[in-house]
Amino acid sequence: MSQSRSLVRNILVTSALPYANGSLHLGHILEYTQTDIWARFQRARGNSCLYVCADDAHGTAIMLKAAQLGLAPEQHIANMQAEHQQDFADFLIDVDNYHSSHSQENRELSAMMYRRLRANGHIVSRTITQAFDPEKQLFLADRYIKGSCPRCGAADQYGDNCESCGATYSSNELIDPVSTISGATPVAKESEHFFFTLSKFGDFLKCWTRSGPLQNEVANKLAEWLDEGLQEWDISRDAPYFGFEIPDAPGKYFYVWLDAPIGYMASLKNYCDQHGLDWQQYWSKDSSAEVHHFIGKDIVNFHALFWPAVLESANFRTPTQVCVHGFLTVNGKKMSKSRGTFINARDYLQHLDPEYLRYYLAAKLTAGIDDIDLNLEDFIARVNSDLVGKLVNIASRTARFVNQSGSVLASEMADMVLWQQFVDAAPRIEEFYEAREYSRAMREIMALADMANAWIAERAPWALAKDAAKAHEVLAICSQGVNLFRALITWIAPVLPQTAAKAATFLNTELCWQTATRPLFNHKINTFTPLLKRLEKAQVDAMMDAAQKTLTQLRALDKTPDATDKPQFKPLATEAIAAEIQFEDFAKIDLRIALIVKAEEVEGADKLLKLTLDLDGETRQVFAGIKSAYNPQDIEGKHTVMVANLAPRKMRFGVSEGMVLAAGPGGKELWILEPHPGAKPGMRVM
Ligand code: 2FM
Ligand code: ZN
Repeated sequence: MSQSRSLVRNILVTSALPYANGSLHLGHILEYTQTDIWARFQRARGNSCLYVCADDAHGTAIMLKAAQLGLAPEQHIANMQAEHQQDFADFLIDVDNYHSSHSQENRELSAMMYRRLRANGHIVSRTITQAFDPEKQLFLADRYIKGSCPRCGAADQYGDNCESCGATYSSNELIDPVSTISGATPVAKESEHFFFTLSKFGDFLKCWTRSGPLQNEVANKLAEWLDEGLQEWDISRDAPYFGFEIPDAPGKYFYVWLDAPIGYMASLKNYCDQHGLDWQQYWSKDSSAEVHHFIGKDIVNFHALFWPAVLESANFRTPTQVCVHGFLTVNGKKMSKSRGTFINARDYLQHLDPEYLRYYLAAKLTAGIDDIDLNLEDFIARVNSDLVGKLVNIASRTARFVNQSGSVLASEMADMVLWQQFVDAAPRIEEFYEAREYSRAMREIMALADMANAWIAERAPWALAKDAAKAHEVLAICSQGVNLFRALITWIAPVLPQTAAKAATFLNTELCWQTATRPLFNHKINTFTPLLKRLEKAQVDAMMDAAQKTLTQLRALDKTPDATDKPQFKPLATEAIAAEIQFEDFAKIDLRIALIVKAEEVEGADKLLKLTLDLDGETRQVFAGIKSAYNPQDIEGKHTVMVANLAPRKMRFGVSEGMVLAAGPGGKELWILEPHPGAKPGMRVM
């Protein structure tokens, strides 16, 4: 055996720390299942693999939630942590350590990290102006401000983007803004903030993001952001804030996203301190260990830009891999409270076996970032057909004959050719797990299960068993069936740990990856008992009913926004899509060619240009969110397409009398729709 093959890998894996302000839902479970399967696979292969997680306990949202519940934040986060840990355990997520970001370890590590950044000249301070709630006496992040969208006028929109038209803007552009916490009108207030000079890490990150830790699609998206240039990252928040006070800066706290990833280290340190290990062996610059973060595509910027830059500045190693997954959709719809497609983890557990979902997710998970759909009909069909109809069926239809003849397996293989096909599949299955291509691993396992079932059906031991003279043959066939089942259940054990444990009892042997392809001969097994029940539609319906009830309760209880403390970047590959309209709605829109007579910057607005438009003699003033893409002087004299019959809207900077149409993902890539030069102002656009 070559030396490299005998090396045991030393691996640390993490899942994103769930916020301590709400219950877990199936979107969380997707990620923990993906991580857990990978960790269990690594351990099964004989590697050392520590899986750590924690609650993400800081931030304004958690502080407000605790106040709403009449609890001290410490009590609130302790309650949430207990609930989350129970959900982890019941979904069979085998974390080695579950901690809290509000821990002594994290307090010390965050301060240490900050001091290193500051000593390296990577912290600067500056006075900024922010919206402030004069009643509650606190600064308001964009999501705590609501008003009408400056672009389309839709009411009740958050301070950073419009769910109706998809526009992004800053909260001072909102029409009639109010604080969602008190209802007061926000005022502008200055305060000193600390910034991490992320801008100095552009070259480092361009290199790091292309050095192998990321999926290509993720690296490509980051390249766009890196090409635009990085801004300094605001890492401080003013009191009142639930978090860690910044060293030497009374009244200033670390922004939750600064200390959250350090929470990975803190949870590891907490584990290592209890087990006589050194946490730094995973994180020092010269570490030979691997670090793999599993995250959703909405928090890529924090893990693949900010975090590696912070680590680099503080002289720690960077992650080996940041493994990004897509979102979970339910019956093709985004999982959301407003759409009624939100499923709480506990509601699932109250009605269904966790392994059904673990298998279904595994059967759909790839190494990509596409969303994964939990289609409930397909869920029932797939679980019953694959797990009950194929996998468990191999054991249930053969074991009883072995049990009937003394429970000792035959002394030789009935069909070596078939067995060899199983042996040959093992390395492929391993590669698929390693590459997080679980769906391909599941397909491989189920294809083998099909082969095993077909082989057994052809030999029909149940028919042969009627003839006492065929007892030897029946035992040979059924022993092979049991051995085939043993190989498959070993390979699927990272996905179905509970069923695998029951199978190990029945097989009277530990399931071991290394020996799965060495058949058991003359081996005594135990009496077979059913391993997994069929999934009934009624159970799924009951689960969905429970989820609806929870949703109703949540809506009644929680009027505050789904605050998640993650502004700054839009998630990868998600776009705001407006609801479907009828042709009659469309026909109401009067689209006209307009001449841009004048284009001016608007003082105090980051994204708007003030346009003076000519509609064949009629002049209109329109505020358009296209400043990121156009210099005012460059578009004067051009034609554009405008919505001419939009009711005038009062904005902070004046009245907007219509809207110009633009296309593109945003930023510099935004194009006003320029009609043909022959088009005349006022002309109708069909
Ligand atoms: O997005 C979230 O749910 C965050 N609580 C994830 C934090 S991950 C890490 F950085 F701690
Ligand atoms: Zn809008």
